Amino acid sequence: MSMEIVYPCSATVKQDVACRIIMVSAQQWPNLVHSLSPWSEGGILQSVADEGEFSGKTEQTLLLHANAKPSRLMLVGLGDETKITSRVYRTAASLAVQQLRQCHLSSWVFDLHLCCADTVVDVADCLFDGALLELYRFERYKSPGADGKDARLSDADVICCAFGAIAVDSLAAVQQRLTQRKIISAGVCLARDLVNEPGNVKTPSYLAQIAWQLAEEHHLKCTLLGPAELERQGFGALLAVAKGSICEPRLIALEYTGAGDASAPIALVGKGVTFDSGGISLKPGEGMDQMKMDMAGGAAVLATMGIIAQLQLPVNVIGVVPAVENMPSDRATRPGDIVTSLSGQTIEILNTDAEGRLILADAIAWVGKKNPAMIIDLATLTGACIMALGHHASAVLGNDDELVQGLRQAGEKVGERLWQLPLFEEYADQLKSQVADMKNIGGRPAGTITAAAFLQKFVAEIPWAHLDIAGTAWEEKGKPGQPSGGTGFGVRLLVEYLQSR
Ligand code: BES
Ligand code: MN
Ligand code: ZN
Repeated sequence: MSMEIVYPCSATVKQDVACRIIMVSAQQWPNLVHSLSPWSEGGILQSVADEGEFSGKTEQTLLLHANAKPSRLMLVGLGDETKITSRVYRTAASLAVQQLRQCHLSSWVFDLHLCCADTVVDVADCLFDGALLELYRFERYKSPGADGKDARLSDADVICCAFGAIAVDSLAAVQQRLTQRKIISAGVCLARDLVNEPGNVKTPSYLAQIAWQLAEEHHLKCTLLGPAELERQGFGALLAVAKGSICEPRLIALEYTGAGDASAPIALVGKGVTFDSGGISLKPGEGMDQMKMDMAGGAAVLATMGIIAQLQLPVNVIGVVPAVENMPSDRATRPGDIVTSLSGQTIEILNTDAEGRLILADAIAWVGKKNPAMIIDLATLTGACIMALGHHASAVLGNDDELVQGLRQAGEKVGERLWQLPLFEEYADQLKSQVADMKNIGGRPAGTITAAAFLQKFVAEIPWAHLDIAGTAWEEKGKPGQPSGGTGFGVRLLVEYLQSR
């Protein structure tokens, strides 16, 4: 995105806020030094420039005080203007807000007068996401005043916008985007909350309750299937995973009809393992606590359903979350057990820790009967995906190139990166069983791909894409716009994809 100084700074900046934030590229900075009223007067910016305290480099911020309105100015560097991408804007906004929060400042304006008119709406989207997602904290279980617990900023005073002398129609467009991005980031934060909740709280029936509440609030249709109904309908693979846990499984379905009854729905399916101990194929103790995040795909699907209902998107969508807990016990599935899935295909379960594909197999087969236009599933499915892509991109695989490319584009737009892995027929050979229609593991080579090849056996001819979000659903240390814990990965991508259609 290239930027230029379009207008001289005008007096239209909102003044009853604590701070004015200006994003500035390295090339714009020398001009701004002389042209930013009232900060240029009295030589404040000139001294900043002379002393080299700010130069417009990326991730550079500087907070200044003066007898002005607002009385604080935050400069944020965007770096070389030929290299500015949407990520740069998002990060810049997150860093600015992080600093303001540290100073206990809770209101500000983004001054966009340096943005050129034809990119200002897209830039605003990035700034709003960067700011709103930075503000999230999971502190439900921290006592008030306890160490580390921030005072929450009240939602109302969080963001105001100022646009210098930007044209009135783009001002209206930007304000409309702010309303949208608030709804979307609130959904991302719901997904983060669900991922951050501990396994003792977010049982499968808890997730079902959340879905029910979303349905009531946003007028969605909610279907919940419990163990008896799952048994009756033949969810053999899902029930095999649920068996070891005292927690009852649920199949959760939310339906949104925004395009009339005639058009086929887009199906979203999200893995909902509320805790993955591995089952009898028990995981090592170290880091096992992180496996409360194994329902991140399901959380993304639930949150997306709430968002699209609020945005009233003109699409039909059905969101499905198979929710189970994977536990070892005397009633748990044993390695070697053979089960019959909902599709009728039999599965030899050789490793009870490859449970995600089992519950997804039945959920996909179930939603497939509703003749969806396409199926998109999201799952923290394989550790191998982290080996392949680390924590900076999710894997995408599928049987329909247009769908895969559409998802990649949507991801690129919102900063949730996807990278495609191949799904050549030969990979499915690794799943051949001596005694059943397939095994649930394909050996060490290409673990992410063989997991997808397993799912593919249940989608038949429906256009389908699978997102393996094992490496992106959880952030260990925290980074700009993303405090440590659940990331809500996939929510903005899905909403963007559905909006783009
Ligand atoms: N939920 C895990 C995958 C995972 C690992 C997600 C790390 C996030 C972080 C999944 O159920 C699993 O255990 N997969 C196994 C599959 C194997 C047994 C074929 C794995 O990746 O080791
Ligand atoms: Mn597992
Ligand atoms: Zn799992």
